[in-house]
Amino acid sequence: MSKPFRAFLATPRTAWVTGASSGIGRELALQLAAAGHRVVISARNVQALQAVAAQYPQQLLVLDFDATDDSACAVAAERLAALAPVLDAAILNAGTCEYLDDGAIDLALVRRVMAANFDGTLQAAALALPRLQHAAEPALYVVSSQVTALPLTRSGAYGASKAALEYFFRCLRIDRQHTGLRVGILRPGFVRTPLTDRNDFSMPFLWSAGQAAAHMLAAIDRGREELTFPHSLQALLGLFAALPHSLWARLAQHMRKPTQEATP
Ligand SMILES: NC(=O)c1ccc[n+]([C@@H]2O[C@H](COP(=O)([O-])OP(=O)(O)OC[C@H]3O[C@@H](n4cnc5c(N)ncnc54)[C@H](OP(=O)(O)O)[C@@H]3O)[C@@H](O)[C@H]2O)c1
Repeated sequence: MSKPFRAFLATPRTAWVTGASSGIGRELALQLAAAGHRVVISARNVQALQAVAAQYPQQLLVLDFDATDDSACAVAAERLAALAPVLDAAILNAGTCEYLDDGAIDLALVRRVMAANFDGTLQAAALALPRLQHAAEPALYVVSSQVTALPLTRSGAYGASKAALEYFFRCLRIDRQHTGLRVGILRPGFVRTPLTDRNDFSMPFLWSAGQAAAHMLAAIDRGREELTFPHSLQALLGLFAALPHSLWARLAQHMRKPTQEATP
């Protein structure tokens, strides 16, 4: 018999939100704190984290954590254990985006993006799991992106990092299900944050970070394991993804940035 449904955030929880110094992560942390939860907030920019924590000093606990720095992880693990011996939820949101121009394979760029989005999220998950295993209803969420729906121009590094992330955490879901761990994947479309403020193209169906965070927390509250939003962008990308690959490759030419040689 399945357990009766109880909203996950109806009781006070302790959560860890990575990438909470700006954008979606900052909003997730603030909304969780406003609802009465305790949240460990991490990123590299400690000053920015402290400014976020100042809004709810009793509930927001700062953790200096560079997900790409292996040598700093032992210290971060100890600090996390001290701040939150038991974690009910971890929302692994930290990430970055860089685009590849002119079809170039810029290995340094690809490695930077993979290090932050893939290796870094795994590093955070490895720190979170020992703390989550003590919780009655542990939940581990990763923030992917709608980019995984289909190949897009210039998006090889970013899309590959998120696709790898999704595959890995879907496997983890299977391998940890017997422990009671809920593994969720959250796939936003375009959200206005410092990350997308750098974009030089139009972003359809753009949401605010506050809207996105509220939507993500509602899904976590309901126990959903997969969330893709907004539906309008999901429907559009789903339509393109259903086309034969060769037709999509031709259509997607219209989204390409003109190369330097082609620019008058
Ligand atoms: N905005 C969108 O349209 C959109 C769409 C789909 C998915 N997403 C995903 O949503 C997540 C949040 O992005 P955002 O838009 O809110 O961007 P953002 O405002 O730039 O936030 C990114 C966060 O990640 C942290 N971070 C980056 N590299 C890190 C590292 N090596 N170690 C630890 N923390 C690191 C940053 O903090 P520090 O720099 O202080 O370390 C920052 O707090 C990302 O995973 C992104 O891929 C965003």
